[in-house]
Order: sequence, then C-alpha cells, then structure tokens
Amino acid sequence: MSGLQFLGTGSYVPDFVADNDRFSQILDTSDEWIYPRTGIKKRQLAVDKPNYYMGTEAAKDALKSAGITADKIDLIIVSTCTPDFFYPAMSCLIQKRIGAVNASCFDVNSACTGFITAMDIAHKFLETDKYKTILIVSSEKLSSQQDYTDRANCILFGDAAGAVVVAKSDGQFSSFLGAEGDEFDALYCKVNYQSNCPWFKDEDEFYENRFDTFAKKNYLYQDGRAVYKFAVNAMADAVNHVSEQIGIAPSELDLVIPHQANLRIIAKATELLGIPEEKVYTNIEYMGNVSSACIPVGIDELYKSGRLKRGMKLCLVGFGAGLTYGSIIMET
Ligand code: ACO
Repeated sequence: MSGLQFLGTGSYVPDFVADNDRFSQILDTSDEWIYPRTGIKKRQLAVDKPNYYMGTEAAKDALKSAGITADKIDLIIVSTCTPDFFYPAMSCLIQKRIGAVNASCFDVNSACTGFITAMDIAHKFLETDKYKTILIVSSEKLSSQQDYTDRANCILFGDAAGAVVVAKSDGQFSSFLGAEGDEFDALYCKVNYQSNCPWFKDEDEFYENRFDTFAKKNYLYQDGRAVYKFAVNAMADAVNHVSEQIGIAPSELDLVIPHQANLRIIAKATELLGIPEEKVYTNIEYMGNVSSACIPVGIDELYKSGRLKRGMKLCLVGFGAGLTYGSIIMET
C-alpha cells in the first residue's frame, strides 16, 4: 500500500481576537475559570466573513505553498460541520473561487474528526491512480452556531480554515475511523428548517422530546463531561489501532497533532499512550477549538516553521460530534 505526502499547506485565521477578558465583559466568567480548565487564552472569530471565504483563502495559501496552479487539482474534499449552505457543497464554492476547473468536489461532515476522514478518503482516491493531486480544506465557523449567553460552550470555540495539497508517496500510511452513534445527543447542533408546510408535525413529537431548548434555537449543545470522558479513551484507542497496524509503539512516533478541544484531554490521552509532551503539538491556547480545522492549521504552522520534516512518523488524532473518532499515522 502506498502513502500520502503533503505538497503544500495553507491556513486562514480571521483578524478579530476574542480573549478571555472579552468574554468576562459579556458573561459571568473569567480567565481564571477558562484557562486552567481548557488551556484556552483566546480565539479568533470570523465576524465579517462567511465560512467559504476562510476556506478559499486557506486553499489559495496551500496552492501557493505547493507551487501549483488550481487547474492541476483533480479533487477537492472539504470537511465542515458549519457550512454556509445546505447545498451546494462548500467544495464547489471553493472550486469556483480558486478556478480548479478540472476538479471533482464533495464535502464530508464528521464534525471535528472531519480532516482525518478527508485524509483517509483522499488516500483511497490516490490509490486508484485516477486522482493524482487532491486539495483538502477544513473550514469551520463555529461562531455561527454558538449561543453567546451560554458560558459553558461559547468560550471554547474559534473560527479558522486549514488546507493541504496531497499526492501519493511511498511512505507508510495507516488509518482508523470509528463512530459511536449511540452517543449522538452528547454533542449536536440541530438544523432549524422553519418549514411552512401546512402538514408539518409538531417538533417535539417529531424529535421524540430528545432535544432541549438550545437545540430548538439551532445552537450547539454539548454535555461537556460526557464528551470529555469519551474523548480521552477514544483518542488513546484510535492511536493504539494505527500504531499496531504499522507495527510501532505510540512512544516511537516523532510528532502527534491531536484535535484541540481541551488541553487536559490531550494531556490525559497522550499520558495514557506514553507519548512525551514535547512530541505533542498544541495551538489551543491562541486558537481555541476550531473543529476539523484544528489539525490542518497545526500542520500548516509546523510545515511553514520547518518543524515538520520529511520521513517523520506523524500521527493525527481526533474526535467530535457523532460521536466520531479517528487517527492516521503517516510517514511525511
Ligand atoms: N465560566 C465560569 N463558570 C462556568 C463556565 C464558564 N465559562 N462554564 C461552566 N461554568 C460553571 C458551571 O455553571 C458549573 O457551575 P455549578 O457547579 O455552580 O453548576 C461549573 O462551572 C462546572 O461546570 P461543568 O460544565 O461541569 O465544568 P467542567 O469542569 O466539566 O468543564 C468543559 C467544562 C471545559 C466544557 C469540559 O467539560 C470539557 O472540556 N469537555 C469536553 C468538551 C469537548 O471536548 N468538546 C468537543 C467539541 S468537538 C466538536 O465536535 C464540536
């Protein structure tokens, strides 16, 4: 089986900075509460830009970094759980804006696991040899789904986009994707269709009274403690799966880029795996949780700073709404 290599990476982070003090001006909260529990000091919000704008800018940055023109892209895969439109797919909007005239397009949504899912799909497409160059964009505008009176959740999330251009390689590659749909109501954001269909059923009956008031207002809802509990074991399981497939111990990895939901989750999961702190990349302190964009933004930061080198054993691991989880080990 062949591997996958990065030809180029890119990202876009909006200008508006919301640090913890800004939240304490609108909510009963403080840096003293937020930082020790989450590891977050600030996050950036796309207050004047749609999600597809961020995705397009990250895509352009990745093409520039790869040194190729958009017409060389055979496929665009976008991961997002915060699209601007139900349809068309955001990949089509980005295709138009960058001029990727030869690309097929589709989106995936496995929430924060989205980038790992997209990488796994890209790897399988590259294996067919019909697709040579694939653009993956993970773009998330979590601010559009927050209730800014809900201090337990809105302080966690930021907005950003990350992108990579990938092609086949002869390095090692191993992936694992898991899901536990039983726990879907631990973390969700319901679509509010506002239908004027005269025969539409009462919403409570329709949804079996499962969802609380946040959901009715189409805001993100999460049971933070349930997600926390799931996340630690799911991340450790996912890394163990791919390590076994490739025949190494997690401690032999060169670099791990985990999903950035909570610094304590990352610390606990990597401790369980015996991975030393210096091999674990985090940017949650200044980015917050940007869902599926966390990992590709991290890849871009590492790639452009020269820390991500050829031949490294890189591990990506994440979890998110679904609940989903997954991991990849690739030789860069
Ligand atoms: N400021 C001050 N007090 C707060 C805040 C806040 N921002 N938020 C909650 N509190 C209060 C609560 O009201 C509660 O008060 P009470 O005891 O008087 O009732 C108390 O703090 C404890 O609240 P908990 O929710 O139990 O706090 P917890 O210690 O569990 O931390 C947190 C909350 C940080 C959200 C944690 O549960 C967590 O990180 N969970 C995982 C979240 C996660 O990883 N989500 C993934 C999202 S990925 C995706 O797919 C979108």
